[in-house]
Amino acid sequence: MNRQPLRLAIMEATRILTEAGVESPRSDADLIAAHVLGVDRGRLPMVPLVDPPVIEAIGQLVAQRAKRIPLQYLTGWAALGNVTVNVGAGVFVPRPETELLLEWGLKFLQGREYPVVVDLCTGSAALALALAHERPDAVVYAVDVDAQALAWARHNADVHSDAGNTPIRLYSGDITDPTMFAELDGLVDLVLCNPPYVPEGTYVPPEVAEHDPARAVFAEESGLAIIRHAVAAGARLLRPGGGLAIEHDDTHGSAAPALVRARRVLTGVEDHNDYTGRARFVTARRLG
Ligand SMILES: C[S@@+](CC[C@H](N)C(=O)[O-])C[C@H]1O[C@@H](n2cnc3c(N)ncnc32)[C@H](O)[C@@H]1O
Repeated sequence: MNRQPLRLAIMEATRILTEAGVESPRSDADLIAAHVLGVDRGRLPMVPLVDPPVIEAIGQLVAQRAKRIPLQYLTGWAALGNVTVNVGAGVFVPRPETELLLEWGLKFLQGREYPVVVDLCTGSAALALALAHERPDAVVYAVDVDAQALAWARHNADVHSDAGNTPIRLYSGDITDPTMFAELDGLVDLVLCNPPYVPEGTYVPPEVAEHDPARAVFAEESGLAIIRHAVAAGARLLRPGGGLAIEHDDTHGSAAPALVRARRVLTGVEDHNDYTGRARFVTARRLG
C-alpha cells in the first residue's frame, strides 16, 4: 500500500476548510486528523506517513465539515473543564467561554463543604458534570426543558457516574416555572446558568444557525427573556450568602447586571469579560 505524508493531507484539508469559510481551518484539520488516527493533536508530528484509508477517512470528515457541520458533531465530543461530554444533533455544543462560569463557580465554592449546586439550562450537562468532577462532595442538580438535550444529558450523566464520578440529579423542567425546584428554595449554595441569550434576528454562522437547536441559542426580549427567569430562580433558590453566575450576550453588559440588581436580595453584582474582552457573565451573592 502507498503510504502518504500526513502533513500534505492536513494542508489540503486546511485549504478546503478555508475555502468553505470555516473559522479555524488549520485547527479543525488537525483535530479531524487526530480524531481519525485516535491520537492527541499534539502527537500528529510523530505520524509522518499514513495509509490511504486514513487519507480517505480524513477527506470524508473534511467534506462534512466544509458543509459547516460543527466539528464536535463529527468527532462526537466536546470538552468543558476536565471532562468531555458526547454531543450530536439536538444538543448545544459547550463553548470555551463557559469555562469562565465554571471557574468562577469552583472558586466561589472554595471553603464550602457539601455544597448544593443547581445548573439551570444544562443542555449536554457539561457544566454540571464538570463541576461534579471537581467537587465530588457537591450535590449537583441540573435541569433542561428540551427532551433531546435531556437525552444527551442523561447519556453523559450515566457515562460519568459509571466512571466513578458523583452522580448528578437531572430533571426535566422549565426555568420560567416559578415552582421549579421549590423544595430547594433558600438551600442552594451556587446557581449556574448558561441560558439561550442571543437576540432574535442576530446573524450567527451556519454551524449555529443550522445545527445548534434554536431554543438553545435565541431568546425573546432582545435575548433577555430566559436570563430574567434565571435571575428570579437564583434569587429564590439561593441560601443567604449563596452565589449566582449567569452567562449572557456581549451586548448585555449593562442589561443583565441591571436585571440582577433589580432583585433586592441579590448583592455584590459584578459583570465579567471573556478571553476576548467582551462582557460575558454576571455574578452576585444572596444577601445574608
Ligand atoms: C446555551 S444552551 C446551554 C447548555 C449548557 N449549559 C452549556 O453550557 O453547554 C441553553 C439550554 O437551555 C435550554 N433551555 C431553553 N429554555 C429553557 C427553559 N425555559 N427552561 C429550561 N431550559 C431551557 C435549552 O434547551 C438548551 O439546552
